[in-house]
Amino acid sequence: MRTWALTESLPFARRHGFTPSRELRYSALDLRATPPLPDTPDGVRLPPLAGLDPRRMHTLHVGASSDEPGDAPTDALSYASWRYEVWDNLGLDRAASTAVEVDGELVAFSLVKRDGDRMWSDMTATLPAFRGRGLARLAKLAALHRARAAGVAVAYTSNDEANVPMLAVNERLGYRPVAAQWSCLAELS
Ligand SMILES: CC(C)(COP(=O)(O)OP(=O)(O)OC[C@H]1O[C@@H](n2cnc3c(N)ncnc32)[C@H](O)[C@@H]1OP(=O)(O)O)[C@@H](O)C(=O)NCCC(=O)NCCS
Repeated sequence: MRTWALTESLPFARRHGFTPSRELRYSALDLRATPPLPDTPDGVRLPPLAGLDPRRMHTLHVGASSDEPGDAPTDALSYASWRYEVWDNLGLDRAASTAVEVDGELVAFSLVKRDGDRMWSDMTATLPAFRGRGLARLAKLAALHRARAAGVAVAYTSNDEANVPMLAVNERLGYRPVAAQWSCLAELS
């Protein structure tokens, strides 16, 4: 069983049989401070999700995000589950959520969930073969610009403390830590 606890609540969790496992950092960015969008390199497009075939996005999502650090390997989402949980999610802003296409292939993306003037980055991911080229940063930056243009004021995100590349992307975008939680695990006997 997994639950989440604030750092100051870990003694309580331990007393009830849970073992702290992984630290999660919550960060926020005031979108007035969003860095400028650089010129897009030749052959690279930044389509919003709104115009994309959801089956292509599902293939990208599964291929790019399955090694996200966490307590357990993420199960590959079937198309039906992904459609329900991600694509048809009422909070998903498909006009702001952005993919990266390199020479016609979808290789990276950043999802935006919106609630009024606040947004939550639900997932940013890059196919393993395309990592380390700044494409996650580009996807997230373009998504933040689209969200800001549509009236979003502040962006939130959360990251496993071991996810060094994603923390690096967020720090360079200007996100600052605002809270921390620990996942806590207990074995059911
Ligand atoms: C995290 C992820 C999206 C990064 O994608 P990417 O396209 O390689 O990211 P970028 O190239 O834009 O930027 C990576 C940054 O991490 C830095 N980085 C990468 N590995 C690093 C390491 N081991 N130590 C320190 N910095 C590292 C890079 O230098 C770069 O920062 P810089 O631009 O300041 O130099 C990708 O690894 C991924 O898809 N992981 C699986 C899904 C996931 O965990 N998503 C996040 C969920 S919250």
